[in-house]
Amino acid sequence: MDVIQVRDLDVGYGGQPILRGLSFAVPSGRITVIVGESGSGKSTLLKTLIGLQPPLRGEIRMSGSLIDYGSERELRAFYPRIGVLYQNSALLDSLTLFQNTALPIWMHHHDWPAAKTENQVRAMLARVGLAGHGAKYPYELSGGMRKRAALARAMVLEPGLVFCDEPSAGLDPITSAGLDGLLTELRTAHGVTFVVVTHELRSIAHIADRLMMLREGRLHFDGEYAEAAASPDPYLQAFFLRKAAS
Ligand SMILES: Nc1ncnc2c1ncn2[C@@H]1O[C@H](COP(=O)(O)OP(=O)(O)OP(=O)(O)O)[C@@H](O)[C@H]1O
Ligand SMILES: [Mg+2]
Repeated sequence: MDVIQVRDLDVGYGGQPILRGLSFAVPSGRITVIVGESGSGKSTLLKTLIGLQPPLRGEIRMSGSLIDYGSERELRAFYPRIGVLYQNSALLDSLTLFQNTALPIWMHHHDWPAAKTENQVRAMLARVGLAGHGAKYPYELSGGMRKRAALARAMVLEPGLVFCDEPSAGLDPITSAGLDGLLTELRTAHGVTFVVVTHELRSIAHIADRLMMLREGRLHFDGEYAEAAASPDPYLQAFFLRKAAS
């Protein structure tokens, strides 16, 4: 089953498309990785999929229903069902880790008793390896801890669909591998669907079930990771071999 279905989508700013005519599907319970050169529109595409940047044209369906990104009511119903890990982690500096992680609960579940919130936040912090750090502030954390905290916040409502923009950027290889392990575990053990933007080849090799490559405003490749890695296409080969494309 496909969690997201996109048809004839144009995305961009001020009426100017950055990406044109995208049609693709994101299958359930798998990790789809989006790659492309810096400035190719990866973050813009994610922003559009999560409703922060309205599409210029085309249709986006989530679990079969067409999303009207102009409707606040629809977005309100949609947001608790997704999790987002932003490119820069986007933790709030004035709040502790516990409070940062609890934010989605406070925003969407006004009726939860404090004990239920506390249990859920603690469980999520433990799941990302941050048990016992809830009282710390973001500036007291390392980069890897901040990423894991942002993942705990993205997962706290147990969404079935999680978007991650460069989760391992700036992390050392060991911490990065730990984060990859967390994503694949959430996929395999909990059936979570991920859409992940990353350029890290090692990370891609670990996590990607599917690959989408953006190039010059279009979808250059969309298919299984194994198929991309074995493709004779010169641009894909250049990407996997880290060469300048000829
Ligand atoms: N808010 C904005 N207003 C206008 N143009 C923007 C805005 N944000 C991004 N752009 C432009 O859109 C294009 C795509 O940017 P985007 O951030 O989506 O790229 P990216 O693939 O995520 O790059 P990176 O790998 O560097 O994160 C760039 O040309 C950028 O200048
Ligand atoms: Mg980006």
